[in-house]
Amino acid sequence: MSIKKLHYGAGIFISVFIVLHLCNHAVSVFGAAAHLTFMDNLRVVYRNVVIESLLLLAVLVQVISGLRLFWQQRKTANSFYEKLQRWSGFYLAIFFVIHLSAVLGGRYWLGLDTNFYFGVAGLNNYPFYLFFVPYYGLAILSFFAHIASIHHQKMQKKVFGVTVAQQSNIILVLGVVGTVVILYGLTNGFGGVRIPQEYEVLIGK
Ligand code: HEM
Repeated sequence: MSIKKLHYGAGIFISVFIVLHLCNHAVSVFGAAAHLTFMDNLRVVYRNVVIESLLLLAVLVQVISGLRLFWQQRKTANSFYEKLQRWSGFYLAIFFVIHLSAVLGGRYWLGLDTNFYFGVAGLNNYPFYLFFVPYYGLAILSFFAHIASIHHQKMQKKVFGVTVAQQSNIILVLGVVGTVVILYGLTNGFGGVRIPQEYEVLIGK
């Protein structure tokens, strides 16, 4: 199987999780309790040995194959969307490694429930949010940018008179809106979330 097909297959599997995961984060606009309940329900699907192992394996495949494609296409990616696909993928590879190390480290090393409060501790405390806002924001934007680039490459048809380039641009705009909505929710409408004591270790307290 070619490296591209492997990357595409693993990408589709991971994307199903990411869409659900980002919906979970968007639900935080209704409050922390809504986010916690949504995650509890989602965990029934992915927090088991089979699905979680497949997910982690798919991410590993995605990161390795993605970095190889990033390097291979350094001279051939010329158009805006080709470059966007390369760079958004590069950021996602770095993000995956840090994010999953943090989640697994939080769970097995710190013994924390990696729930809403684990995700948002850094986002709601100075100076940590100077890192976490661009770190999470760029991850969500990169996900949408990667999808927009693939759409641009694979889609052939106008839809209701909307050209392929316009369709991809719409996906990018949705990414910006999604990023703002999620960051708004995860910071309690930019007002800040009080972090329970057991998570204060994450912000050096
Ligand atoms: C908006 C900012 C984000 C926050 C606050 C966040 C937070 C979290 C948390 C708390 C977990 C642990 C879930 C659990 O224990 O059930 C998690 C897992 C995960 N996140 Fe995120 N996440 C964010 C964005 C993303 C993005 C953009 C991606 C992918 C592009 C992503 C991919 C993953 C993956 C693959 C897992 C591992 C699931 C598992 O095996 O348990 N996350 N995230």
